[in-house]
Amino acid sequence: MASKTKSSPKYKRILLKLSGEAMMGKENFGIDPDFIFYLAEEIKSAYKTGVEVAIVVGGGNIFRGVAGSKQGIDRTTADYMGMLATIFNGMALQDAIERIGVATRLQTAFEIKEIAEPFIRKRAIRHLEKGRIVIAGGGTGLPFITTDTAAAMRALEINCEAIFKGTGVDGVYDKDPRKNNNVKKFDTLSLEEAFRCDDINIMDNSAIDLCRANKINVVVFDIYKKGNLKKAVLGQKVGTLIK
Ligand code: GTP
Repeated sequence: MASKTKSSPKYKRILLKLSGEAMMGKENFGIDPDFIFYLAEEIKSAYKTGVEVAIVVGGGNIFRGVAGSKQGIDRTTADYMGMLATIFNGMALQDAIERIGVATRLQTAFEIKEIAEPFIRKRAIRHLEKGRIVIAGGGTGLPFITTDTAAAMRALEINCEAIFKGTGVDGVYDKDPRKNNNVKKFDTLSLEEAFRCDDINIMDNSAIDLCRANKINVVVFDIYKKGNLKKAVLGQKVGTLIK
């Protein structure tokens, strides 16, 4: 993690985690093409600093496994439907990023060979080394596991230095700022505190635990604010750093 000049990245390789909701933009469901292009431009601008970028995207804008199972769909089936939703999103993101001139590879946790490469760790690393953005779709390929945990696992597998969690909130608060007044924002926080405190639900505990056990930082920032991702990659003060 060597910070050189103001325009050189603080990290060599990061994993960007985007929630499925981020793909909706101002819509209530599905994919907002205008917003995907905004995301693609944000990603390109961060990538242009020289950082290697892998991406894990959620699927909640299309289908959420937990919600599906509450509606009576078998939980495992519902989770597989959620995994397919993440691949939908990955395809849309890949298309948008490639349209603005950055090479990408979509790799999926289970094989859909006609659409994407299978996730092969060393191949993903090679793509990153060659300057391609790798989008990992399909979560971990296993039911009962969130895309936050998938993000932590992929980040560790492909040796990322930090997870950048792009959300609709500008960092981590002691209580949910959308439901409470008088909340306090953290500039930094330990993974231990994030794990222990029940009011901090920025990532599920299995994801936090993986980060904690393997000493990987998490940056939580507002992806809706233009320029934030690049600033965070450059090590500027954006959102909350959980370390
Ligand atoms: P290098 O080995 O570095 O040249 O990597 P590469 O990804 O350019 O080589 P490759 O010839 O393996 O891939 C060329 C294109 O085919 C890329 O867009 C890959 O994403 C795609 N591709 C590779 N394997 C698969 C696959 O199993 N399924 C699908 N759908 N596409 C694949």
